[in-house]
Amino acid sequence: MNISSSHHSTLLYDATDLQRWRESLSSHDHRPLIGFVPTMGDLHEGHLSLVREAKRHAQYVVVSLFVNPTQFNNASDFEAYHRDESRDAQVAVNAGADAIFLPSPGVIYPSGAQTWVNVGALGDHLCGATRPGHFRGVCTVVNALFNLVRCHIAVFGEKDYQQLSIIRQMTRDLHLPVKIIGVPTARESGGLAMSSRNTRLTPAGRREAMSIYKSLTNAQRLWREGEREHSSLVEEVKRELSPLLKIDYLTLCDPHSLQPLADEQQTHTALLAIACFVEEVRLIDNLMLGSS
Ligand code: PAF
Repeated sequence: MNISSSHHSTLLYDATDLQRWRESLSSHDHRPLIGFVPTMGDLHEGHLSLVREAKRHAQYVVVSLFVNPTQFNNASDFEAYHRDESRDAQVAVNAGADAIFLPSPGVIYPSGAQTWVNVGALGDHLCGATRPGHFRGVCTVVNALFNLVRCHIAVFGEKDYQQLSIIRQMTRDLHLPVKIIGVPTARESGGLAMSSRNTRLTPAGRREAMSIYKSLTNAQRLWREGEREHSSLVEEVKRELSPLLKIDYLTLCDPHSLQPLADEQQTHTALLAIACFVEEVRLIDNLMLGSS
């Protein structure tokens, strides 16, 4: 792979490469801080904002490109996942990555591997309810990546709010010496949350998908105006959403436990989270109500 950049960058494929790379840093810099951005590639501006945030907290940043088979709910989705490692490595380096980690499945899951990181109650709701086993795959790979990269900080997007919560929980529960940093969702000009999946939408589908953010911000406005009846807020979102979207879930939930809120429950903040299908493409988004 040929990466042209003014940055000094390195491609790493396994634990030995990572070890050598870390040793090469320690010789000029005593115990340098290493930041990490795990990705499945197909990088967009949202990922690059994670790289830039990592760079603010650490001297060196590793970006991993690994399409993790264990977090897919079906094999055809995994096979169809768009892969272009040269382009991804190049854009990550241009955003400030110092090293790109490109493990093969055998590096992450050694032959005969049989240990999983299972997720507790945080995985019972939202995407966890409709994608069985997904977060078990995410936690297992993120734990493996943390152990391989030996990063001090790691950066994740708030678009995958449940993933971020679950990773924070795992990091605490397993005493992983990694500080987790969340970054606000990057949005396109019409408000659509950036996602690798957006490129699979037709222009018409993209217009329909813009109703997601519009409907969430409308609920946020109603909340600011004092509306606290959760079911009315959810109904308002449904009314604003394009009828061509198929809702997977639309939930107002406690931002810590992710448990759906009952109408009579009083809270200062609530997470409004949605997953829906637009032209068979599954999109997710969320907005915190009451945070500002
Ligand atoms: O958010 C993602 O892209 C993935 O779930 C992650 C964290 C890279 C694990 O495969």
